[in-house]
Amino acid sequence: MIGIFDSGIGGLTVVKSVMERIPGYDIIYFGDTARTPYGTKSADTVIKYSVENIDFLLQYGAKLVVMACNTASSVAAKRVAETFDVPIFEVVTPATEQAVKSSVKSVVGVIGTRATVKSGMYEKKIKNMKPDAKVYSVACPLLVPLVEEGWMKKPETKMIIKKYLLPLKVRQIDTLILGCTHYPLLKAIIQRKIGKKVRVIDSSIAVAEKVKSFLDANPEIDRRLGKNDDFRLFVSDITDQFEKTARITLKRKVFLEHVKL
Ligand code: DGL
Repeated sequence: MIGIFDSGIGGLTVVKSVMERIPGYDIIYFGDTARTPYGTKSADTVIKYSVENIDFLLQYGAKLVVMACNTASSVAAKRVAETFDVPIFEVVTPATEQAVKSSVKSVVGVIGTRATVKSGMYEKKIKNMKPDAKVYSVACPLLVPLVEEGWMKKPETKMIIKKYLLPLKVRQIDTLILGCTHYPLLKAIIQRKIGKKVRVIDSSIAVAEKVKSFLDANPEIDRRLGKNDDFRLFVSDITDQFEKTARITLKRKVFLEHVKL
């Protein structure tokens, strides 16, 4: 079973990418809807939550874990890798690798939550791979609540995105990383506002491709994962909005199970 967790609803974009890239694998998802958002919390709190979330997924039979949440990936990846002995994937590294590969001018923009931008993790990883790269990061705290309200197509949302992207446009980035689970749901507007020449990297697709290559290269681990297309969806707080967004995002019937961590 592949375990995937996020602070809430946004990680379903990663579930969707995993289901598309490697169909048929059993998946257990945990959305920490009771403690969301993570993007406004301290690194210590996000680390504590991430360890608890992975513990839960392992108890339910996950043999490989994907941290769908960019904030958790940015601040907790090192700690969870030291704590657990199953393969754990975070979203920052795969998105960074794709960005470095695709950027011709090595001028990369990153958008994410405040905690992700504050961690400087994208910038650090990009510079490790390409020391002369220029990286500009912008925190976009209003985008998560707008997506959660379903305001994906509202003129106000378009205006806010335009404003957030302006400093990146001025710096003439040629690649933009969507460093938050919710932003793939705004990808079309973001692409339009930043300009069609800018390559937009979706971290949900990047991590799904990374898991696929890992499983291709590690058949002994692949064999341990069930492939009956089972999907269990756990949340720490059940809301109508979650059920609706899950159904729309995944285009399949979902059944929410409640868990208290
Ligand atoms: N899942 C978070 C992320 O990708 C966004 C929502 C939150 O702040 O918890 O950074």
